[in-house]
Amino acid sequence: MKVRKAVIPAAGLGTRFLPATKAMPKEMVPIVDKPTIQFIVEEAKKSGIEDILIVTGKNKRSIEDHFDANPELEQDLEEKGKTDLLHLTQSITNLGVNLYYTRQPHPAGLGDAILRARSFVGDEPFAVMLGDDLMDDKVPLTKQLIDRYDKTHASTIAVMPVPHEEVSKYGVIDPDSEIEPGLINVKAFVEKPDVDKAPSDYAIIGRYLLTPEIFDILAHQKPGRGGEIQLTDAIDTMNKTQRVFAHVFNGERHDVGNKEGYLETSIEYGLSHPQIKDDLREYIINMAQKLQKEDKNSKKK
Ligand code: UTP
Repeated sequence: MKVRKAVIPAAGLGTRFLPATKAMPKEMVPIVDKPTIQFIVEEAKKSGIEDILIVTGKNKRSIEDHFDANPELEQDLEEKGKTDLLHLTQSITNLGVNLYYTRQPHPAGLGDAILRARSFVGDEPFAVMLGDDLMDDKVPLTKQLIDRYDKTHASTIAVMPVPHEEVSKYGVIDPDSEIEPGLINVKAFVEKPDVDKAPSDYAIIGRYLLTPEIFDILAHQKPGRGGEIQLTDAIDTMNKTQRVFAHVFNGERHDVGNKEGYLETSIEYGLSHPQIKDDLREYIINMAQKLQKEDKNSKKK
């Protein structure tokens, strides 16, 4: 069956970004001038996804507003002859995918958020895309997972090696054999293992291709790590009755879910943004020289 649907869970509290996320959704924090959730919707579109369900919660109305038309703004831009900005604004409403919304009443965990998508997904395979990770590759990562699914008809989870001391921040796989380049049979999926107990350094990185059987499991899933309903635990249970593969991502991953990763990504994307790249480059070079001088002086003291 063709993969046509994606779910973007966006109901988390975004505590790592407080105080910015006290009243503003983490998903609306921009990288240069584009909210992170728009990057995710664009990746879905490029991957051939037709219908997207965004799972939202309290304080998340601006996500819906962002993808909706804004007649007042558009009229103003038109009257002032700001045609480029008008087209830019309108293009967000015409991304070429159908967007649907539902709410998760309490942020009870990623697994609980995905369970909210049950009737939207029905009996079809579907993608799950988290906004914390922006993925760059020639073929979008979600499309890579769909291509794997088309051959295997099995759930497939994107993974990537991370520094060993960071594994406790992620879901991690216990790999079995590599059945073809970049496709791994998995013995177990473990949510945020302690560093000394982690079965590998392959971390789950925010893109999943799941078969609909996950919903029966999620419906009975007990809270796991952090008292939350964990998607990783449900995937581990599913792996006991049907094959679940790990797909190794070789592209570039930008973790925008924490402050440092967010700033680094903003700089990198800014350096290829047509409007600001030249000035930003000059600023960074000057800043680097100033910092180097400061470093030298502090070593002399
Ligand atoms: P995270 O744990 O990274 O997001 O969940 P968070 O909880 O918003 O962030 P922190 O850790 O407090 O800073 C991964 C994804 O799952 C969604 C989040 O919105 C994020 O996109 N999520 C998480 C939900 O939709 N509902 C939940 O109950 C938990």
